[in-house]
Amino acid sequence: MMDALRVVDVSEADLDSVWEVRLRSFGPGGDKDKWREDALRFIEDGRYVGVADGDVVVAAARIWPFQQWWGGRRVPMAGIAGVVVSPEYRGRGVGSMLMRGVLQRSVEMGCPLSGLYPATTVLYRHLGYEFGGGRYKFSFQSSDLRSLGGKGVALRKAGREDAQLAIDLASRVHESRRSNGPLIWPLAQVESWLEDEANFAYVADDGFVVYNWSEQNLSVDELIAGSEETTRALWATVGSGASIARTVHAYTPPTDPINLMAEHEADSAANVSRWMLRLLDAPAAIAARGFAPGAAVEVGLRIDDPDVPANTGDWHLSVADGAGSLTSAQPSGDALRLGPRGLAGLYAGTPLNTLRSAGLATGAGAVDQAIDTAFGGPTAYMLDFF
Ligand SMILES: CC(C)(COP(=O)(O)OP(=O)(O)OC[C@H]1O[C@@H](n2cnc3c(N)ncnc32)[C@H](O)[C@@H]1OP(=O)(O)O)[C@@H](O)C(=O)NCCC(=O)NCCS
Repeated sequence: MMDALRVVDVSEADLDSVWEVRLRSFGPGGDKDKWREDALRFIEDGRYVGVADGDVVVAAARIWPFQQWWGGRRVPMAGIAGVVVSPEYRGRGVGSMLMRGVLQRSVEMGCPLSGLYPATTVLYRHLGYEFGGGRYKFSFQSSDLRSLGGKGVALRKAGREDAQLAIDLASRVHESRRSNGPLIWPLAQVESWLEDEANFAYVADDGFVVYNWSEQNLSVDELIAGSEETTRALWATVGSGASIARTVHAYTPPTDPINLMAEHEADSAANVSRWMLRLLDAPAAIAARGFAPGAAVEVGLRIDDPDVPANTGDWHLSVADGAGSLTSAQPSGDALRLGPRGLAGLYAGTPLNTLRSAGLATGAGAVDQAIDTAFGGPTAYMLDFF
């Protein structure tokens, strides 16, 4: 049976089989017609990869064409979602075969990075993914937000036509904060998010907010503000629901200013889901991200990456003036040695000492501080699940 297995592009004719595998993997729920409509878009763009046994697709995964902010610059990132293997094929390497096909396709799409939310870390660690950051949810008392002020700031209701504006406003803030981790979704997704009548969107000159009901409370998907007054105005707008909604849940960076402004957390249970990162093209990933201004690094790197052989080799990492490069180099005895997981951790700003203690980095001890400074910055986060 296993001999006939091969990586394929999922086609429209396979969707009934994939839906069945999905149902058996994630349980009931979701609207099949809506799912099918979304699936067709992934198929059209060659972003739905499967494993087939003969003619039947028994495993599948989707690839989102995201961009991700790293050091305040955008890097194309393949977001892997809906990884499923039919139960009778599990535990035999099918998931790994599928993910190798997904990695290959993501490289072909020109994404130097890949990211995902793991239901199990084992499969993804074997393939070179490591934790990159978290999705943080905080909860505030609506009445605290209501009284934040900002009444002089003009706000207007936003809709589908404001999608590009929202991306531009977020970009300005991420560049100046040198953000790590948040996603830029394709424009069509931002449009449908803003036109969804369940979401309430308001825009100011230098910011916007999108929020919705979450049972009896309110939940903020995203709030971007380029100034203190706009920060106050947008949070106060959400808090104006305080007579009905006692609590405002919010997905925010852990370093978001609201954490320094709201008087109470509504409950102490801040919640974090962690996501994983992988470098698919190390030189391109290093060239695309921003680095801490003022940091300077010159160091030999030895990378061993069995699943992405183009990453394997001897490199020279150079960081200066907020930019980095990774160029081919002669082997060096005192190079910093990393596998793909160590490389992902480093890229995401994990301190080298932590990577060393976890067995994910060795060699070149003298440069740790300079490397940590270069890759460091605000804690990596995402606002969205995918
Ligand atoms: C998770 C899933 C995709 C794995 O598929 P699979 O074909 O069993 O994976 P593989 O056989 O290639 O396993 C690869 C490695 O992951 C490990 N692994 C697989 N499922 C695991 C689980 N649930 N818990 C811990 N380890 C797991 C395997 O043991 C193997 O490691 P090993 O070689 O050290 O033994 C499959 O179980 C599935 O579809 N689950 C339901 C949906 C789901 O959780 N999807 C993931 C969403 S992120």
